[in-house]
Amino acid sequence: MSATPEHLYPTFDRMLPRAAKEAMLGQSGAVIWMYGLSGSGKSTLAHRLERVLHDEGRLVKVLDGDNVRTGLNKNLGFSDEDRLENIRRVAEVAKLFADCGIVVIASFITPNNELRRLARDIIGGGDLLEVYVKASFETCAARDPKGLYAKVKAGEVKQFTGRDSGFEEPDHADLVIDTEAADEDACLATLHAAAAAKIRLPR
Ligand code: ADX
Repeated sequence: MSATPEHLYPTFDRMLPRAAKEAMLGQSGAVIWMYGLSGSGKSTLAHRLERVLHDEGRLVKVLDGDNVRTGLNKNLGFSDEDRLENIRRVAEVAKLFADCGIVVIASFITPNNELRRLARDIIGGGDLLEVYVKASFETCAARDPKGLYAKVKAGEVKQFTGRDSGFEEPDHADLVIDTEAADEDACLATLHAAAAAKIRLPR
């Protein structure tokens, strides 16, 4: 049950300003939101980017669907309704981190434009870098890093994105990383350049 708004007393005015934390960290909080099919390369690139930024002295947190769904979102499945709640919660968490000056790399399928818009509305466009990690269903199925596509083929996984649950091409992206067209290092270099520009002080 949701709380009654008139009985809540938020105290945002007493909070230490975000700029003080960003100055301490020497970076600006941001959310790099990576979406695309399972197997498109989101997690691989997210973790490699985290390592590179960390080595450059940045404070970074990766939020990844497979991990978040074993904790915060372990009560959620893959219906349209649950995917929306998954994205809503993660966007709120990402915003909390960004408000502390932390760089968040969010790696979620985020299968349609409504969900991408929801994340953008919660986080705010100024803090957000939307990255579409692009690869076809056939390519992802051939890579099958988790063995999931084989299970889908055997009928063991329902509501699978790109099969019996939809995946919409984006109507907006700040950056498209085509993991079929370029190798992993080249994709990482493109992503890193865009991320580095986003988190540089001053804002
Ligand atoms: S999202 O659609 O709500 O954004 P999310 O990124 O959190 O999805 O989770 C996707 C991950 O869950 C996939 O990478 C995959 O490992 C796993 N998974 C398990 N079942 C499904 C399913 N039916 N559809 C898509 N991914 C699934």
